[in-house]
Amino acid sequence: MQTWVIGNWKQNPATKREVEALLEDIVATIDSGLLDSDHKSRCQLMLAPSCIHLATVSSRLQNTSILSAAQDISAHSATVGAYTGDCSAQQVVDAGAAWTILGHSERRQYHQESNDSLLQKLICALSQNIGAVLCIGETQAQYDSEQTIEVINEQLQVIKSLLEQPLSQQLDLKHTLTERLIIAYEPVWAIGTGKVPTVAEVSATHEHIKQEIARFAPDLPLVTVLYGGSVNANNADSFAASSMIDGALVGGASLKAESFLAIAAAFS
Ligand code: PGA
Repeated sequence: MQTWVIGNWKQNPATKREVEALLEDIVATIDSGLLDSDHKSRCQLMLAPSCIHLATVSSRLQNTSILSAAQDISAHSATVGAYTGDCSAQQVVDAGAAWTILGHSERRQYHQESNDSLLQKLICALSQNIGAVLCIGETQAQYDSEQTIEVINEQLQVIKSLLEQPLSQQLDLKHTLTERLIIAYEPVWAIGTGKVPTVAEVSATHEHIKQEIARFAPDLPLVTVLYGGSVNANNADSFAASSMIDGALVGGASLKAESFLAIAAAFS
């Protein structure tokens, strides 16, 4: 089974020089044999730098097995337009990325991203043939009041809406989604806090996500679901041991080659 370990660098590192140093560290550690070719074929690595560093990262990764991704794309146009501050799916492709993260909880929180705007972003991504890592997850208050499944079901409605778009005939959407949709379950309360749900809790939630998407699209293979939120070199093995957890979306621990690749090793 193919697993995925994705580094979400967020608004880090500060400079191009630090980005290059981190990349060299990652590539050199892999080349030194930390992940052999069997490992590499089992676990697909991907790095999502901030938009300003995307072309640098993509170009350095060009002849490696690591993919690059954007952290977001414009909802307004897949190509060009008068959308100050936005970066389109086409521009992301031109910068060398094959994927984009969408709907990260920090974007939902600080940029009020809703299912409506995420639907537009998904359509833009797929129209430019890039994959989407759609992030979902509940807040601490929702977790405490046992609303996790309800919240997730509501966030997954965007996939149902996508499948109902007229676009689906043009794109053979079901086939496209098989290759280009990953869900990242990230409880908001676990992001950057050092707190994690139990592996049993994550596994049950992932099973639910897979079943829910299978309900919308019964002929799709089960969707890939990653866990994110305080994954580190010490706890990665326990998440990797569950057949329901197809990989990890990693924030803080992806900013050091050693911890990022230890997580990759756990999932390979
Ligand atoms: P974290 O972040 O690994 O630092 O908790 C994960 C994420 O926000 O994707």
